[in-house]
Amino acid sequence: MDDVMFPGCPTTVAPLGVGTWAWGDSKTWGMGTYDRSTTEATIADAWRTSLDAGIGLFDTAEIYGSGESERILGRLLRSTVGEDPSRRDSLVVATKFWPAPWKLDVAGALRQSLEASLGRLGLDHVDLYQIHGPISLRSAAAMAEALAAAVAAGLTRAVGVSNYSIRETERIHAELAKRGVPLASNQIEYSLLRRRPETTGLLRRCSELGVVPIAYSPIGQGRLTGKYTASNPPPKARGFSAHPMEAVDRVVAVAREVGANHDGRTPSEVALRWIIDKGAVPIPGAKNANQAADNAGALGWSLDPAEIEALDAVALDGTNSFANRFWQHG
Ligand SMILES: NC(=O)c1ccc[n+]([C@@H]2O[C@H](COP(=O)([O-])OP(=O)(O)OC[C@H]3O[C@@H](n4cnc5c(N)ncnc54)[C@H](OP(=O)(O)O)[C@@H]3O)[C@@H](O)[C@H]2O)c1
Repeated sequence: MDDVMFPGCPTTVAPLGVGTWAWGDSKTWGMGTYDRSTTEATIADAWRTSLDAGIGLFDTAEIYGSGESERILGRLLRSTVGEDPSRRDSLVVATKFWPAPWKLDVAGALRQSLEASLGRLGLDHVDLYQIHGPISLRSAAAMAEALAAAVAAGLTRAVGVSNYSIRETERIHAELAKRGVPLASNQIEYSLLRRRPETTGLLRRCSELGVVPIAYSPIGQGRLTGKYTASNPPPKARGFSAHPMEAVDRVVAVAREVGANHDGRTPSEVALRWIIDKGAVPIPGAKNANQAADNAGALGWSLDPAEIEALDAVALDGTNSFANRFWQHG
């Protein structure tokens, strides 16, 4: 996969981003409990390492740490763009609206949320504004109207969705098209631990519609890196696609074998490259420079068809994913 452009946004970025959920959400990710090594300084190292590796896409959400991930990203943006304003044009800053069912005035709520996100990020516009999941009681037409109004107001360049099924993607794509706005992306859980978006045809449909699939939890919340095993499980339950670690070990073993054929590339590099070679854009979280450098190692090379086949054969469909049960979609 070449560099990627999100329809509606003129910035071209590498087909790999960085997810910032763990940056601000210490409650979910255990910072200050098991993970005492993550600080805003290590996060800043991850930021700089990612920028130096040519990464331009950063994903966040209003609900991550109740806005804390956006605040941290905002401080990092200020430190970099403050020194060199021209860098802003090379970045795609993506955040999300939480469309809670009680937000019946969805246009008003979305505008208010987006303005609050912009305040935390210290920006006058984001590049991609996403609906976090299909949980609103309002119609696709109402959601599309709210998104189109945000574009018209210049508060975002492109708009996307997350955790949308094929049918939901088609519906919002059509409603946005009526308003002259392209649907730029659908952010879904996609990895060697959850191949489901491929087997259901969601990836293919996104490609037909010109919608960029963004893959979240692409290294299985750390479990595809090889550092966690059945005998050394993750310190805190990693809730998405929570397969028994014995099954995860089998996937990591194949990723390790494939990486050995590429000068010893790590399981994370292979897991992320597999996603890129399938036409999706992974956004792994990285909490420090080492993780960011390892993840960025997925850029600039490719798997061959036999390697992709070997990984396909061992990949798990992920039907027992927490995310899948929660959203019941995608
Ligand atoms: N739209 C949605 O509903 C949704 C849902 C979930 C996530 N997301 C987005 O997707 C992003 C990524 O997903 P995620 O954070 O759930 O999972 P992930 O990217 O698969 O895993 C990230 C975690 O793995 C560990 N890690 C990362 N790189 C590593 C490396 N190279 N070596 C060793 N360990 C490494 C770190 O945790 P430890 O060091 O603690 O192991 C890190 O926090 C999020 O930040 C967020 O932006 C979106």
